[in-house]
Amino acid sequence: MSAVSAVVRGLGGALPERVVTNQQLASLVDTSDEWIRRRTGIVERRHAKAGETTSGLATAAAQRALASAGVRSADLLIVATSTPDKVCPATAPKVAANLGIRGVAAYDVSAVCSGFVYALATASWAISSGAVESALVIGADTFTRLIDPTDRATAIIFGDGAGAAYLSAGTADEPGAVLASTLHSDGTGETLIQVPRRDGAFFEMQGKEVFTQAVSAMSDSVHTVLAKVGWTADDVDSLVAHQANLRILNAVASVAGVSTAKVEIHLDRVGNTSAASIPLAMTDAELRGHRAPGDKVVLTAFGGGITWGAIAMTWPVVTVIDPH
Ligand code: UT7
Repeated sequence: MSAVSAVVRGLGGALPERVVTNQQLASLVDTSDEWIRRRTGIVERRHAKAGETTSGLATAAAQRALASAGVRSADLLIVATSTPDKVCPATAPKVAANLGIRGVAAYDVSAVCSGFVYALATASWAISSGAVESALVIGADTFTRLIDPTDRATAIIFGDGAGAAYLSAGTADEPGAVLASTLHSDGTGETLIQVPRRDGAFFEMQGKEVFTQAVSAMSDSVHTVLAKVGWTADDVDSLVAHQANLRILNAVASVAGVSTAKVEIHLDRVGNTSAASIPLAMTDAELRGHRAPGDKVVLTAFGGGITWGAIAMTWPVVTVIDPH
């Protein structure tokens, strides 16, 4: 009997309606459309409006991922978020209830921009171990609520959104199979990206240092999963890296030896959506017909903690709805 693999069978994304352009930001802080495009590749992003919550966006993305897979429920529900609706309880049980799912294991993963990779890897471990048959993995964040609107280093990058994937047990030769993963952390870097616990505290990021560490950590973890799965960098059809900055995406590809033509780019239209960025970029790549079932894909992310990791998988058979 062949070993059980977790197979992605559904994808979905959700974005707030409110579009915020570079020009709009340039009227609020000392920046320009030209600077933001040249230094980050971002053109516009979405901001959640009052009443639009992380759990609401997560629920909308999850509904689309379930519909995309043609199922109604999952044995395990994980929400990767660092901007939960409340300090406690976790967001995942509420999302499960919103979806009409009761009684299943539901919990949050807090790994900032690496959250989706953390949640997808651990869900795939749960499925391949036989602990559960299926899982719904959601990345959702509303970081714009924690951003200082006058901080031009962070206000220009972040946007809000959610993305989700549905996985169930299958085999490694099926399109969508999760084949290898690697997860890492280093808490000595905890102040590089943080929201300190004090009244009125905003999101803080040491952008330059994060940039350097992100390139080296993501390219290292791409090498690690390639070695685990036995692919060369040339074998990779698609690199879906956390969408923080176009210069970071291209640098990760070149250090990892993957052609920059294989980098999926979604940040131009949504900015850095933290834990939502990878499933949103996958949904966008599918919508734009960039990928075919069975293509060799590497996902990689870097975020607060600091945390980072990568996953090697094949492109799933999915139909998706445009979240824009
Ligand atoms: O999601 C988790 C991971 N996060 C990331 O990966 C983000 C990583 N960091 C970055 O993407 C970049 O560091 C930023 C986009 C945040 C900043 O870009 P940078 O190219 O690293 O800019 P810098 O901080 O080196 O600043 C270069 C210059 C400075 O001016 P001087 O000192 O050379 O005169 C800044 O004051 O650009 C200036 N600057 C800006 N100018 C216009 C910084 N931000 C802006 C801005 N508009 N928004």
